[in-house]
Amino acid sequence: MNAKKIAGEKAADYVKDGMTVGLGTGSTVYWTILKLGERVKQGLELRGVPTSERTRQLAEQLGIPLVPLAEAEPLDLTIDGADEISDELDLIKGGGGALFREKMVALASKRLLIVADESKRVQRLGAFPLPVEVVPFAWEVTARRIERLGCHPRLRLADKGTFLTDNGNFILDCDCGLIAEPAVLNRKLKELTGVVDTGLFIGMADTVIIGASEGAKTVER
Ligand code: A5P
Repeated sequence: MNAKKIAGEKAADYVKDGMTVGLGTGSTVYWTILKLGERVKQGLELRGVPTSERTRQLAEQLGIPLVPLAEAEPLDLTIDGADEISDELDLIKGGGGALFREKMVALASKRLLIVADESKRVQRLGAFPLPVEVVPFAWEVTARRIERLGCHPRLRLADKGTFLTDNGNFILDCDCGLIAEPAVLNRKLKELTGVVDTGLFIGMADTVIIGASEGAKTVER
């Protein structure tokens, strides 16, 4: 069976009646949201907080009641995917471009549960280019500042023109090589005017469910 589906569906077991849950973005947590939709139809009381417009649409189609983040804090749990997961359970996220809302929602949650397949596990972060959300105004200047930190930023493109986040910003996919000190890089990037946030999620994941064809493995921090 599909490893993403195995991990995603398993995560739905963590959701209990009456919880407020952050709903992540991507093709793994998609399976969690589908399962939660089924359980809502069977009577599960749940309030969801979407991390992207894509997830909002999916949750609405499934009849999952939604609430704005500002009215939901603190959330009981957020379930989301990742692009890379290190041995320390630090993450690179934002492959789908939703990193800012994903981080906002995760930071407002008591627990962050990550779902992924084996291919996302790495010893050290950085093979996956780090997504950094930047304000469009003079983004080339921000890109030059990022380059001075030793990264090679590339403007993310969409089918028609520049990729725009749900917040109307750009994404720079930054090849920073293997990242020796993710917390330090994250701080330096966030100090740059023009940077909204980075896809580095340091010390945030509490639990990781890794799906494989033979079943799911759970790693706790
Ligand atoms: C969205 O912006 C990302 O952070 C996703 O959570 C990440 O790309 C994982 O996606 P998949 O589950 O589709 O691999």
